[in-house]
Amino acid sequence: MPANKPRVVVTRKLPDIAETRMRELFDTVLNDDDHPMDAAELIAAAGRCDVLVPTVTDHIDRHVIAAAGAELRLIANFGNGTDNIDVEAALARGITVTNTPGVLTEDTADMTMALILAVPRRVAEGARLMRDHPEDWKGWSPTWMVGRRIFGKRLGIVGMGRIGQAVARRARAFGLQIHYHNRRRVPAPIEQELEATYWDSLDQMLARMNIISVNCPHTPATYHLLSARRLALLRPDAYIVNTARGEIIDEGALAAMIEAGELAGAGLDVFEHEPAVDPRLLKSDRVLLLPHMGSATIESRVDMGEKVIINIKAFTDGHTPPDRVLPSDL
Ligand code: 8YV
Repeated sequence: MPANKPRVVVTRKLPDIAETRMRELFDTVLNDDDHPMDAAELIAAAGRCDVLVPTVTDHIDRHVIAAAGAELRLIANFGNGTDNIDVEAALARGITVTNTPGVLTEDTADMTMALILAVPRRVAEGARLMRDHPEDWKGWSPTWMVGRRIFGKRLGIVGMGRIGQAVARRARAFGLQIHYHNRRRVPAPIEQELEATYWDSLDQMLARMNIISVNCPHTPATYHLLSARRLALLRPDAYIVNTARGEIIDEGALAAMIEAGELAGAGLDVFEHEPAVDPRLLKSDRVLLLPHMGSATIESRVDMGEKVIINIKAFTDGHTPPDRVLPSDL
């Protein structure tokens, strides 16, 4: 690392406080107009910096990594998920990768809970009607806008990490029964605290749940984890919520099921080909779609910036950065 300030390229506009501090500490190149960088820009950026700070919209694939100059030693992701980065290719070139875990857990769990509440109770549908067609509301009726009860239902959490557990804590307060599938069973005290039932078989859990919440990272092992075959195991009155990554669900298969009325509904904050969304989902009243807002609070985004700065500072000062992504995380 050079003795002078490290050159840091930040691919997207970050909260002002993070950018100001980065400018003080590093030789920082910012993206003032916040345009998503294309492959050529990312390749150019990787070729001229010591540290690259990408986000979920930047595909730091093996071509970008291969084009990196010898100076690029750290990719400090502004985000928890690192599926936008070919981490293996980076590590193979001796480039360290860090992320921003922990600080967005509660906000993402809140958004998940918001979808779990909103979809069965038709919140978006009701709000849309009041905004766009208030004349259609002729007054209260015993059978109008009737949704499904949440209390007492079975919630199946796919991925019981930090965010999955934070969702479970909230869901318990709403009277949901907690079930989960995870690569590893969580420690007994956590299971007891959450009164959570572990399912070794994802298939069996899917077939029995009223609501599914996807909270695992997107890795090669979880790509289309909810495949067409597995989605078909869901009860026709089940709901599915995803605040993790779109690639975990076969979006085409989900859209076909929604269109065919084979699933009660879905709450989706993430999509397989962001920002594109399957048109069948866009036009369905059974789904509530959000534009990847899980961690979108000013507090989360400032804390994520803080983590990025700490990771860069530790690394460039010759220390192990706190949020290093290890091969075992992949
Ligand atoms: C961000 C997220 O929107 O951290 C993540 O994994 O999905 C969100 O917090 C995004 O990743 C920022 O790069």
